[in-house]
Amino acid sequence: MHFSAIGRVPGDPILGLIDAYNQDTNPNKFDLGVGVYKDANGLTPILQSVKQAEQRLVDQQQTKTYIGGHGDSRFGQLISELVLGTDSPLLEAKRAGATQTPGGTGALRLVADFIAHCLPGRGIWLSDPTWPIHESIFAEAGLKVGHYPYVGRDNTLNVAAMLHALEHVPLGDVVLLHACCHNPTGFDLSQDDWRQVLDVVRRRELLPLLDFAYQGFGDGLEEDAWSTRLFVSELPEVLITSSCSKNFGLYRERVGALIVCANDAEKLTDVRSQLAYLARNLWSNPPDHGAAVVATILGDAQLKAQWAAEVEAMRSRIAQLRSGLVEALTPFGLAERFAHINQQRGMFSYTGLSTEQVQVLREKHSVYMVGSGRANMAGVDGTRLELLAKAIAQVCQH
Ligand code: LMR
Repeated sequence: MHFSAIGRVPGDPILGLIDAYNQDTNPNKFDLGVGVYKDANGLTPILQSVKQAEQRLVDQQQTKTYIGGHGDSRFGQLISELVLGTDSPLLEAKRAGATQTPGGTGALRLVADFIAHCLPGRGIWLSDPTWPIHESIFAEAGLKVGHYPYVGRDNTLNVAAMLHALEHVPLGDVVLLHACCHNPTGFDLSQDDWRQVLDVVRRRELLPLLDFAYQGFGDGLEEDAWSTRLFVSELPEVLITSSCSKNFGLYRERVGALIVCANDAEKLTDVRSQLAYLARNLWSNPPDHGAAVVATILGDAQLKAQWAAEVEAMRSRIAQLRSGLVEALTPFGLAERFAHINQQRGMFSYTGLSTEQVQVLREKHSVYMVGSGRANMAGVDGTRLELLAKAIAQVCQH
């Protein structure tokens, strides 16, 4: 038998929760697992701006032919402007270009291959902790994966330890930084911290890879781009992976981009030729629909304004759920213990709950979150905060 030696691997730690949650018959279950936004009705809605853009595409799109290795150039220009700023000097100087990818994960897969093929011998450094797929995606591409401390056992951000570790990263290695809304912890660097990280990156001649999957979910669409724009304005070479899954609610359509910033237009063309080659071997052409929706929205002032308002509504609702949960925990004497929930940004909160507590929450209270203690705050049902707080309080007593 050909397959007899093949064993079984454990299910995905995040996506596996979708099935487990769906199978739970408890009407009072909570889905704080996979990072998707839910509205007050517990639904992950299609944004109105997306619906309108889709209607336009249905009416006006002329063809479904291939779009080419880098994807739709209009999408590439517009997503680059969203990330780098409409008036970015890099775009003007043709020093930055986007390659459309199937989601932010596709962008990470492409950049992993790019590093492996074009920068052989370079290791990649990830925050400890980080999104579990960062770990596997770079390891599977054959890269040596290292870690720098980020959030310690006491569930606080340790910038001093991070900077110290980065000082000792081998010259020229790649360092992955979460541009905003750190996944899984929700702890973001301050502007001062970012400047210090930039300083080490420059001195150690490291190549920064900014993973930017949650633009608009932290402090706002422009505000969240601050760190990325700082890095590209100060360094000659930067890699950026961008996702439209969350801020356009286009999760299953798989829309993302790998944006490369090079020292000059000539070098960018060299790099992009390699990316087209690598993408051809991975997925040939990226899927079109989601990117066409994004381009339709970003290319139309009225739709763009409507979309920005929708992102802002999601962002502020998550912020309200954060403060609402801390308030609901207050009668149980837990306000201080969980005060960090209000300081964290984006969809996720590293709650500080242990793997055992997460398991009890799931088995006894039908509260689903990732084993690391990561809760998707965007999945919290605001009408049942008291119930959730009660469940958390019960596991905290043990
Ligand atoms: C998450 O971390 O839950 C999201 O980024 C979804 C995913 O692909 O894991």
